[in-house]
Amino acid sequence: MGTVSGGVRRAVDVALEVPVVTSFTRIGADVRSRVEGWRVPAPGSLTGRSMVVTGGTSGIGRATAAALAGAGAHVVITGRDARRTNEVARVLSAETGGAVHAEHADMGDLDAVRDLAERLQARLDRLDVLVHNAGALTADRRVSPQGHELTVASQVYGPFLLTTLLLPLLERPERGRVLTVASGGMYAAGLEVEHLEMDERGYRGAEQYARAKRAQVTLNEMWAERYRARCGNDRVVFHAMHPGWADTPGVASSLPVFRRVVGPLLRTADQGADTLVWLAADDEALRSSGGFWLDRRRRSLHRLPTTARTDTAGRRDALWRLVVERGGAVDPTVTS
Ligand SMILES: NC(=O)c1ccc[n+]([C@@H]2O[C@H](COP(=O)([O-])OP(=O)(O)OC[C@H]3O[C@@H](n4cnc5c(N)ncnc54)[C@H](OP(=O)(O)O)[C@@H]3O)[C@@H](O)[C@H]2O)c1
Repeated sequence: MGTVSGGVRRAVDVALEVPVVTSFTRIGADVRSRVEGWRVPAPGSLTGRSMVVTGGTSGIGRATAAALAGAGAHVVITGRDARRTNEVARVLSAETGGAVHAEHADMGDLDAVRDLAERLQARLDRLDVLVHNAGALTADRRVSPQGHELTVASQVYGPFLLTTLLLPLLERPERGRVLTVASGGMYAAGLEVEHLEMDERGYRGAEQYARAKRAQVTLNEMWAERYRARCGNDRVVFHAMHPGWADTPGVASSLPVFRRVVGPLLRTADQGADTLVWLAADDEALRSSGGFWLDRRRRSLHRLPTTARTDTAGRRDALWRLVVERGGAVDPTVTS
């Protein structure tokens, strides 16, 4: 692949990116990985680094944990059920020969997230990478113990709170990374603040999911900007990515018709995890902050003018304030 020039690689990427069917399916991953000569992290290359992967019991999170542990990282996976999470950690340790440990927490329960942060602080003396991967699309509206809509609680408020609590562990000379697994589904949603949490009336799981994912990606960019403004450096970098469309237990249970239609074009979980693993392991991720990635390249935050129009500075500030308040977090970018 060394003979393929950068211009040709970029042209191939652009040709794939425009229609989502080539970009998001395994066509995009297969062609880009071949043209660009992707490599997975070599065994031993991550030895000494500690990483937390939420939602590491299944699908993309599990594939990510396996790749990182296989390269020598100490990986802590989380899931909601202690027994299931312990069992997956045991199997991953055996399969990879690496160190994989388990912690459990429902990311939508803010008290559980605080407990999780305390246990992680006690267990780890360094944290190189925090991966916010846990997530689900549910057809019916559910409510968290604190009374928030559960998709938003578990994918926006809980992760935001966990980041703020673990920031001191991530602020290391080697530089920490906070990675968020969003979704191409967010391209359909504008930036919502007042209606970030949908109410019972007119609730649609796919739309709620897209709003939460849009918020994740926006907050990721804001974390990068606000952290740099407050600290004057990128000692912690923030990136969001989307995995394309990957065949995982989550897709099988929440989108069975979509899974049947797209069928063999779905990516494998490993292909869905590739960019996440790369962002966790490669120095390229330290050269910028606030990016939104697919297949190892930064992508735009909007594909539609209608959603771009909703993405104003005023709404962004309001979103940040809302998430600090509802997540019960101390705003880490405010001094004094
Ligand atoms: N697969 C795709 O095509 C695709 C596309 C776009 C985005 N994504 C995103 O990729 C991420 C992983 O999805 P997946 O497809 O791999 O799904 P999956 O196979 O269902 O895995 C989801 C993981 O998240 C955990 N989880 C779910 N809700 C949780 C909660 N409230 N608290 C804590 N953990 C929770 C699950 O753990 P337990 O069940 O053990 O608790 C599981 O480990 C999600 O953020 C999803 O939105 C996936």
